[in-house]
Amino acid sequence: MAIDVKTDIQLDQIIAAHAGCEGALLPILHDVQAALGHVSEASIRTIAHALNLSRAEVHGVVSFYHDFHENPDPRPVLRLCRAEACQARGVEALAAALPQQDRVKVETVYCLGLCSVGPNAMVGDRLHARLDSARLNALVEQLA
Ligand code: FES
Repeated sequence: MAIDVKTDIQLDQIIAAHAGCEGALLPILHDVQAALGHVSEASIRTIAHALNLSRAEVHGVVSFYHDFHENPDPRPVLRLCRAEACQARGVEALAAALPQQDRVKVETVYCLGLCSVGPNAMVGDRLHARLDSARLNALVEQLA
């Protein structure tokens, strides 16, 4: 098995940044996901060791939250809010009308914090509000 020194250094830096903080697991996992694009089995082992947790405990958290992925996925991600306020503004109809395609990963999230201007979606750090079918389809096409 090849050793990825760059990944190991990044992982060590992320763990060190949160060392000693209470509840460090989730911030570490978010940072690892953001930096490396996934939380690998090797990362889970290293994090578990650093936090004095079992691999099963860390793996349980990684597999519970949709934000974390154990394998890299190179596709762009569109995070579509399907919480109550966006549902009331028609997001379910928009989601149902999305054309099936494999080039963009459409993830469901529950509230992006701007309920009054929904339906909303997020791509990277950018929020897309007041979506209608045409705008959502154009957004997905742009990413594909
Ligand atoms: S319910 Fe969709 S942004 Fe809050």
